[in-house]
Amino acid sequence: MSGTASGIGKALAGLLRAQGDEVIGIDLKDADVCADLSTPEGRALAVESVLGMCGGVLDGVVACAGVSTFTTLTVRVNYFGVTAMLEGLRPALAAAPAPRAAVIGSISGTKPAVPEVVRACLDGLEEEAVESGERAVERGDGRMLYPSSKSALAQWLRRVCVTPEWAGCGIPLNAVAPGVVLTPMSDPLFADEEMRKAMDAAVPMPLNGYAEPEVVAEALRWLISPANSHMSGQVVYVDGGAEATLRGPDV
Ligand code: NAI
Repeated sequence: MSGTASGIGKALAGLLRAQGDEVIGIDLKDADVCADLSTPEGRALAVESVLGMCGGVLDGVVACAGVSTFTTLTVRVNYFGVTAMLEGLRPALAAAPAPRAAVIGSISGTKPAVPEVVRACLDGLEEEAVESGERAVERGDGRMLYPSSKSALAQWLRRVCVTPEWAGCGIPLNAVAPGVVLTPMSDPLFADEEMRKAMDAAVPMPLNGYAEPEVVAEALRWLISPANSHMSGQVVYVDGGAEATLRGPDV
């Protein structure tokens, strides 16, 4: 599981360990495996280390690591870091009797994206995605890179989940898409009143407001539990009604 040192990943690791599961955490620091998922070398190190520690068999894989900067780091970590980790660990899932996998999307995945970045992500062309992303930053569209990374991730999920490698090996693959969650990632959004107002307009959460990380972790816990035998390819919004507010009833 990635992103276990903070926020949602830390909350999920805590829930799983409390119920007796063994969790191998991956993060930049304060983890069982310290690796940088923004680079191919870091991803390879993470996959190789986890495969060694689990003996080649994993019941579940969850990708929680992510960043929300207005730079191409979002593309490297949120898309390529997640998909490379899942693809690298997939054989160990396929070796388990009842495997499950999940990733974290975002309500931002429904916001305007940079089409060239999304396309290059889905084509597996990291440097091309980053070059297109750098051009977006230069023309002042850096804020569209986070939505681009999450939109591409949701599309990747729906493409691969039904393939022989995933569904054919009995591996459900889903995403939880939060609204605003109270973690170190969202802290800067509360830094000043203007920023907070803009965030509330962009992500309206009529049901119970901002979420604690444990709320999102609980949804992930179900998605990777043995109870989930048939849900796959879904982006489950755990967002206080934000997606329903923004998209309305006609979807
Ligand atoms: P967080 O900042 O508390 O935790 C993210 C974790 O990912 C940190 O421990 C960080 O060290 C790790 N990480 C970042 N870059 C990494 C890298 N290159 N290699 C390895 N680990 C790395 O953030 P939070 O809120 O827990 O975010 C978790 C996921 O939830 C992310 O994918 C984020 O995009 C998503 N999300 C968060 C929302 C929020 O409001 N907090 C809203 C919607 C989605």
